[in-house]
Amino acid sequence: MRAIQVTEYVKGPLDLKVSDNVPTPRPSATQYLIEIHSAGTNFFDLLQIQGKYQHQPALPWIGGAEFAGTVAAVPSSRPQGGSNPKYQVGDRVFGATQGAYATHVLAGEDTLLRVPAGWSFEDAAGLFVTAPTAYGGLVHRATVRSGEWVLVHAAAGGVGLSAVQIAKAMGATVVATAGTERKRQIAREFGADYVVDYRDAAWPGEVKTLCARHRTGDGRAGVDIVYDPVGMIEASLKCVAWNARLLVVGFAAGTIEKVALNRVLLKNVSLVGLHWGQYARFEKETVGVVWQGIFDLVAQGKFRGIAFTDESFVGLESVPRALQALGGRETWGKVVVKVIDDHAGQSKL
Ligand SMILES: NC(=O)c1ccc[n+]([C@@H]2O[C@H](COP(=O)([O-])OP(=O)(O)OC[C@H]3O[C@@H](n4cnc5c(N)ncnc54)[C@H](OP(=O)(O)O)[C@@H]3O)[C@@H](O)[C@H]2O)c1
Repeated sequence: MRAIQVTEYVKGPLDLKVSDNVPTPRPSATQYLIEIHSAGTNFFDLLQIQGKYQHQPALPWIGGAEFAGTVAAVPSSRPQGGSNPKYQVGDRVFGATQGAYATHVLAGEDTLLRVPAGWSFEDAAGLFVTAPTAYGGLVHRATVRSGEWVLVHAAAGGVGLSAVQIAKAMGATVVATAGTERKRQIAREFGADYVVDYRDAAWPGEVKTLCARHRTGDGRAGVDIVYDPVGMIEASLKCVAWNARLLVVGFAAGTIEKVALNRVLLKNVSLVGLHWGQYARFEKETVGVVWQGIFDLVAQGKFRGIAFTDESFVGLESVPRALQALGGRETWGKVVVKVIDDHAGQSKL
């Protein structure tokens, strides 16, 4: 098969090369063989190829984690007393496991989900991490309610754009922050009610003004929920209402904040963390509930794919450029590489 196989750590994504003769994984007793059509990119892929990520497989390994494709072979054996395979050959699935920058990958049943009806592989390849992070955070951790105001930081990013849609679907008003005009336009297109440029240091004042103008009661002081994948909790405490919940989702800005806890007390607010990846380990029962909630929103037309479309990335050769664009903060939504260009009807294998 073809794959981006890392045999030694590289300085940056443009040093990555496609190998033509990587052995295709053999159908497995316990895992599904997937033919990959699209692969999602993640910031941690950039760290991993440089040897700077917390999870570094022994060299050589294949880069990439998120994918969507078709089942090429089902597990040949089932555990004793186990049920039949959930997916059949030809089924359209998406998921995440090491080795998505390839034409084929092996994946366990618990790392796969069915591509929603009507969805492209491209959109599905960006769903596995972003959507449940936003849904799990807003619905299960921050218990968002209809009528509340939600401030979504980096709203045009992968987890941000998902959060905008989910907050809207739950009946909230969304204030979205983003660093460029194009990104703020995207946040609006996905449902944000108000947009704010958070590169302007006065942005908390702008959020407060919006709340004072459009809200009543305690809400005049600020928003009810802050969804923060960037590391902006300290500044966000300036524009929250009584009983607000501030969700710590990530540190895209690169710094882990220290927060003055007296503000948490004085404003009667909650700081809430979310580590979606660990739900499969510590709270398995919630994983299915979250996905059912997402698939219900998809069926109701309230949640759509967020694949970046300003530039297209076709074929494994485009992975370096896709990762470069992601790392350069040039993109919005989810940067996805079409390993096979389904629209052109031609295989890039
Ligand atoms: N807690 C969890 O379970 C969980 C799950 C998934 C992801 N995450 C974390 O959430 C964060 C965002 O993930 P994502 O997939 O949405 O990433 P993404 O698509 O790359 O978006 C990140 C956004 O952060 C903003 N940003 C602010 N400062 C930045 C900087 N110095 N460098 C790069 N971007 C910066 C950018 O928006 P502007 O240009 O508009 O500022 C960018 O669009 C990451 O830290 C990720 O690790 C956490």
